[in-house]
Amino acid sequence: MKLPSRVLITEVGPRDGLQNEKQPVATDVKVELCERLLGAGVRQLEATSFVSPKWVPQMADAADVMARLPRPQGTRISVLTPNMKGFEGALAAGADEVVIFAAASEAFSMRNINCSIAESIERFRPVAEAAKAHRLRLRAAVSVAFGCPYQGEVPVAAVVDVSQRLRDLGCDEIGIADTIGVGTAGQVERVFDAVTRAVPREQLSGHFHDTYGQAIANVTASLRCGIERFDASIAGLGGCPYAKGATGNVATEDVVYLMHGLGIETGIDLDRLVDTGQWISAQLGRRSQSRAGNALAARREHNRMSERETA
Ligand code: HMG
Ligand code: MG
Repeated sequence: MKLPSRVLITEVGPRDGLQNEKQPVATDVKVELCERLLGAGVRQLEATSFVSPKWVPQMADAADVMARLPRPQGTRISVLTPNMKGFEGALAAGADEVVIFAAASEAFSMRNINCSIAESIERFRPVAEAAKAHRLRLRAAVSVAFGCPYQGEVPVAAVVDVSQRLRDLGCDEIGIADTIGVGTAGQVERVFDAVTRAVPREQLSGHFHDTYGQAIANVTASLRCGIERFDASIAGLGGCPYAKGATGNVATEDVVYLMHGLGIETGIDLDRLVDTGQWISAQLGRRSQSRAGNALAARREHNRMSERETA
């Protein structure tokens, strides 16, 4: 399949990236992270989650983060909303898009949102209706589409089935998620081949965690399946609190580097993105997980030193 000339990257670092942090992250840091990402040209930003603070304490400041975010024109701010309580918070906070999240395995659905897949769809129905009524964009995620930490293998038919149910709810976009980062490129082709028979390819996106180091290969495989939207997390931050051992999403810096190398536009300034990845990693006291980000930062440092020596 012909590669696209442009892709849309949804930056999920402030949400998927930070939700799993054990230490509280100050609201100031979250807000500055969002500001820096928007300044680097990110146009779709998943800023936070309106979920139960008992389940995910790190997202308890969702309303504060939202209240303090800059809102440059042409940007879309998304938040996770598992139920109507979450939707009401999102609406009051002025979110542009709400994200409902289902799973392709019953076990993961229970652990993550405390209900069966069928119950979750019923819980999402009023959220979907309210989103339409208020003209908010509606996105969905299908977790554990490539493997489940509790069930193991996940049949492709289960991914298709839940994607179809989410499409029937009227979702504008459905993200096929490798929550635990186990999928491989061949599997990506099989899953997208099946799901695109039920949901138009333009409405699908890829959400790849990088636990097994396959995420960039999986993004590339998705591109070749005609997928043009990807979630990514600055510095590769993150993991799901209900998927122990799973690491962060594919790093945004790595995806942007890949796309620009393929001549595909992202609208993102890679230099500023790299700075942001290095900055948030320093804030969290750890090394960035982005290979491209670290290499570019090291090269810059090297160039700076050489310039100083020759001056
Ligand atoms: P529950 O305990 O069954 O819900 O949780 P409940 O309705 O019985 O409510 C329990 C308490 O939570 C009540 O408070 C509610 O008011 C409160 P209490 O009366 O005990 O004081 N509550 C809320 N508070 C704030 N906002 C809300 C909300 N809803 C209830 N929206 C529930 C069910 C869905 C709420 C819970 O399981 C939950 O919040 N789960 C979220 C888990 C989560 O955020 N996981 C990570 C995000 S998903 C992800 O990372 C995957 C993704 O990246 C794709 C991938 O990689 O797979 C998207
Ligand atoms: Mg995720």
